[in-house]
Amino acid sequence: MSTFENILVEQRGAVTLVTLNRPKALNALNSDVLRELGEAFAAYDADKSQRCMVLTGSGDKAFAAGADIKEMVEKEAVDFYLEDFFSGWQSKVVKGTRKPWIAAVNGFALGGGCELAMMADFILASDKAKFGQPEINLGVAPGMGGSQRLTRAVGKSKAMEMCLTGRMMDAEEAERAGLVARVVPHDELLTDAMKTAETIASKPPMAAIANKEMVNAAFETTLEHGLAHERRLFQILTASEDKVEGMQAFVEKRDGEWKGR
Ligand code: CAA
Repeated sequence: MSTFENILVEQRGAVTLVTLNRPKALNALNSDVLRELGEAFAAYDADKSQRCMVLTGSGDKAFAAGADIKEMVEKEAVDFYLEDFFSGWQSKVVKGTRKPWIAAVNGFALGGGCELAMMADFILASDKAKFGQPEINLGVAPGMGGSQRLTRAVGKSKAMEMCLTGRMMDAEEAERAGLVARVVPHDELLTDAMKTAETIASKPPMAAIANKEMVNAAFETTLEHGLAHERRLFQILTASEDKVEGMQAFVEKRDGEWKGR
């Protein structure tokens, strides 16, 4: 059972389900949410029984409607600077989590909500989902990675248009643009996301970490370095017990049994 106030955390078999739980504020992301998510993500990453995670929003309307404007309205520039505001999302949620996780976007994913979804390894979207970076309407700009991750996901033209106009993109457009892996009927989103997570959880866990690491490297480095990184990780995996089991199981026409090493 979850002991958090702003999120719900439950384990279903090998899958951790985390739900942003401030539905009255459309799951807006404040400092308490970040602190709790940071703890939940760290606990997931450290728990050997857990092999995939799904993050979604409570209520029918929103994944997260952005950073909490009511928290930010009170702050002055020096506070944002001295607290290095927003830096925790990158360090705790993105860098701190080596194991796979999926964002199941069930409604509005705006500003920091869109940025949080883009921190996931991939996004599954309800057909009611809406994505946007409307910070310009508040006199600011994305602060949790939107200008970088949205641009890498959908290209300069669409990212620039989204940021400059603040308009929302529906799920169909998001899939066409490559922002989301798949669109699912709204009522089936969580079931589909959990099933997808269970599929990932059934794979050799060390190979899952390495697959995630090498795909992410594509965003950080040159092609030549990325290819070398991929080969090294492939070679490391060939030394694992799960490689011996996986290839033996294929030859013997049976399912593999994974040790995670
Ligand atoms: N922060 C704080 N509270 C928020 C919020 C946010 N980002 N988004 C919605 N809420 C609150 C509303 O204030 C409202 O609370 P009250 O009932 O107490 O008034 C409640 O959630 C419901 O919202 P609405 O009545 O506005 O619902 P709606 O259906 O009419 O509109 C919406 C939905 C279009 C998403 C609208 O709420 C909206 O535009 N929200 C703000 C979106 C936004 O600008 N996000 C970017 C934030 S800045 C940011 O994220 C910076 C960054 O890069 C990290």
